[in-house]
Amino acid sequence: MTIHIGADKDDIADVVLMPGDPYRAKWAAETFLTDAKCVHEVRGMFGFTGLWNGNRVTIQGSGMGMPSMSIYANELIRDFDVQTLIRIGSCGGMQPHVKVRDVILAMTASTVATPSSTIFKELNFAPCADYGLLAAAAEAAKAMDVDVHVGGIYSSDTFYDERPDLNKEMQRHGVLGVEMEAAELYILAARYGRRALGVMTVSDHLLTGEALPADQRERSFGDMIGIALTAAFA
Ligand code: ADE
Repeated sequence: MTIHIGADKDDIADVVLMPGDPYRAKWAAETFLTDAKCVHEVRGMFGFTGLWNGNRVTIQGSGMGMPSMSIYANELIRDFDVQTLIRIGSCGGMQPHVKVRDVILAMTASTVATPSSTIFKELNFAPCADYGLLAAAAEAAKAMDVDVHVGGIYSSDTFYDERPDLNKEMQRHGVLGVEMEAAELYILAARYGRRALGVMTVSDHLLTGEALPADQRERSFGDMIGIALTAAFA
């Protein structure tokens, strides 16, 4: 048990999927896993463990933003010895060819700063996904006939952005989408020699203002979770 994850060590699987929203963790566990059991509820940030195709998986909420992701990923890695961590979540589209409902596999995650910035000081560390997971996810998406984009994303500290100039520069440099957690997950995975990937569904678009209606989210989020699970056990 840790401060924020009130589960026994054996309750957490080697593979953990991490949605930002704890209720999405519950929905994903009930929808995709068999024998799913809630292993803790500290702060309502549920963790569920169950089986997918006979493989043990935990689905643990990360909360929103990199400080929250840092807490859960640190404890999962350092105390529960988790080997594979896959963020599943939503993002905002930043390129015209990236459409709402599409899935983005985040090869890299650019940031202004993360909770790890104090370590790096002047170094612009390049947080990147585990290549094996990324390649397996791209293959899974193709097999599932899902519209997928592989490339760089931006992990922002702010949902309500006051830097349209920075968004424009990222768009100019080919960044596909914006979310708020992946960069710190990638940095922690690099630090501790674990595998990490971000698989994101485009839920809204910065260029068009389009947003996915709530009733259409589940099917798109289902594709993303199928891709993440297939990649984890490829
Ligand atoms: N997650 C989903 N949409 C987002 C956006 N527009 N900005 C930051 N995080 C997001």
